[in-house]
Amino acid sequence: MKRRVAILISGRGSNMTALIEAAKASDFPAEIAVVISNRADAAGLARAKASAVATELIESKPFGKDRAAFETVLEEKLKQHRIELICLGGFMRLFTAEFVQRWYGRMLNIHPSLLPSFPGLDPHGQALKAGVKISGATVHFVIPETDAGPIVMQGAVPVQDGDTAEALSERILTIEHRIYPEALRLLASGRLRLEGDLCKIEGNGGSSESLISPSAR
Ligand code: GAR
Repeated sequence: MKRRVAILISGRGSNMTALIEAAKASDFPAEIAVVISNRADAAGLARAKASAVATELIESKPFGKDRAAFETVLEEKLKQHRIELICLGGFMRLFTAEFVQRWYGRMLNIHPSLLPSFPGLDPHGQALKAGVKISGATVHFVIPETDAGPIVMQGAVPVQDGDTAEALSERILTIEHRIYPEALRLLASGRLRLEGDLCKIEGNGGSSESLISPSAR
């Protein structure tokens, strides 16, 4: 039985699209049962509809700072769609610790940096300012702290002299679209195990590939 997944978005939804595309494969262990946006103007909503995925809009603005009230409505929708796993894809709203605890081990997020470096806003700008030569993206389990939690998968890209935040963001985005479906595949097929703050992967042989940046020549 495929695990039923909700993707939560606030914007363009390119990670959402990557997950929807991956989930079309007959051997993918999860199905995208619903896409939920907290913003009416999220471009991802139209993209989800075009892919014939159910969509729900729960505008968060009217709830102001009352996160718990927003989450009560959200939980109701998740229940209606019999959701087992949540993927956050550029979902720009903080949760209460209670909501996060309830979904601990069942909710993933993606962030465009090699966490724990550069959490929060403008991770690409932060990476350029720090002068790192390699950056990337991280899929992790969600905990109450923003952009933190047991790391499931990471992908790295070189940072080039002269990169703008936009150029780096584009390079990292292609990696995001590769690792998010793979991380969801691992979670949905029961291959992830949480050991305290760490995530261990059944049958994980690691990767034999290295990335050196800049290349010497
Ligand atoms: C992605 O780059 C994602 O990693 C980032 O928002 C973007 C959403 O793009 N998430 C965060 O910064 C979380 N702190 P998308 O809507 O095209 O998937």
